[in-house]
Amino acid sequence: MTFQRIKGTFDILPESYTAGGTTFASSTAWQHVESVIREVLTRFGFREIRTPIIEPTELIARGVGGTTDIVQKEMFAFERGDTHYVLRPELTAPVVRAYLEHHLDQKGGTQKLFYIGPCFRAEQPQKGRFRQFHQFGTETIGTDSPAADAETIAAMMTIYRTLGITNTVLRINTLGEASERAAYREALRSFLDPVKDKLSETSRRRLETNPLRILDTKIPQEQELLIGAPTLEDFLGEESVAHYDEVKARLTSLGIDFVKDPRLVRGLDYYTRTAFELESPDLGAQSALAGGGRYDGLAEELGSGKRVPAIGFAAGMERLFLALEAADYTLPAAPNPAIFCIALGEAADRKVFRLVHDLRLAGIHVDMDHGGRSFKAQMREANRAGAAYVLILGDNELEQNIIILKNMETGEQESVAIASLGDHLRTLIPS
Ligand code: HAM
Repeated sequence: MTFQRIKGTFDILPESYTAGGTTFASSTAWQHVESVIREVLTRFGFREIRTPIIEPTELIARGVGGTTDIVQKEMFAFERGDTHYVLRPELTAPVVRAYLEHHLDQKGGTQKLFYIGPCFRAEQPQKGRFRQFHQFGTETIGTDSPAADAETIAAMMTIYRTLGITNTVLRINTLGEASERAAYREALRSFLDPVKDKLSETSRRRLETNPLRILDTKIPQEQELLIGAPTLEDFLGEESVAHYDEVKARLTSLGIDFVKDPRLVRGLDYYTRTAFELESPDLGAQSALAGGGRYDGLAEELGSGKRVPAIGFAAGMERLFLALEAADYTLPAAPNPAIFCIALGEAADRKVFRLVHDLRLAGIHVDMDHGGRSFKAQMREANRAGAAYVLILGDNELEQNIIILKNMETGEQESVAIASLGDHLRTLIPS
């Protein structure tokens, strides 16, 4: 019997591979993309936070919201003793938990945090949708300013632009304050109630629990029923309108294009005011590259005892890779060793084993074959590894304390005294 990975999960291997119609990028490609993300977000003033993969179930239920699909249907949850755990489905609630737990508000100013890491949702797997996926994102905690909203969106857009992804649509909306939304929720409920028999089962359920979610229905008949529905805009107070206007003005001042979408509601309950999503038409059904918004009430929901305004976004790494593929972005391959060492005979093998170690300690990327194979087999390995140089040590060379150095590009060979090998290599190999 052999084992297979769990449905909706995938391995990241040293080389890219294709399975089920999806190309999975190599670990080198992941490192590269992650380093671009870290570099851009650091430049925007965000600092990394790492939180555990397991969190208390109650944190996610309270934070993300009890009526959301994530909490109702998609949690990987388990118990040990009296403790209920969940594999985190997202990082906003965990980051706010850490912010409150470590009193980061007392550090002064606004906390600008970023993260990259795995998340878990028991969704039906399909292209661009996994059960273990990876998010990167930011959370700016402790500011009301619309400038923070625009900065979050600008940081997010800069990552995609830096990676050559331009075929995107940024949709933004405002969800108002909780009280404004409550009034709107009632108006929407009254509007849809007379036609509720024509709604899908899911939407009928949402009519009771969270009618705003019906707005982003993908079912055409339901979209028709929504024509003429009241819009949240009519329920917004002056401050919410001013905030939204300022976010839009700032985005425009940065040259960031967006589409206003009054139907954009997002699938998590904590949002207030600004909400946004970045889509790529290249991605198929799972077109959301990233999403986010303001969540001025979340900290209080998690027990802060005071209002802590905040804004953030999160993006899927797997969907970013799909977009990179569509944009024909060249992902780097793993670096080849500068040197491959070949040993012929047991004594030479011991000597080379030590030599390889010394060169590695000196900072050179060196490899060798294990197992005392033939010269031909070791040479084949050197070619496969793509080494720029090969060092060859046999009994004769060992006796004379020399080693053969072969330039794999030109085919030229020379004998080098082992004692001066380090110095000689330094002239050839850039450190
Ligand atoms: P979200 O929209 O649920 O927001 O997820 C953000 C992104 O994660 C999505 O746009 C998508 O790219 C990716 N994603 C979500 N589920 C999956 C999945 N099953 N497979 C692959 N990718 C997936 C949040 O999680 C919020 N915490 C964003 C946020 C941060 N809001 C404020 N701060």
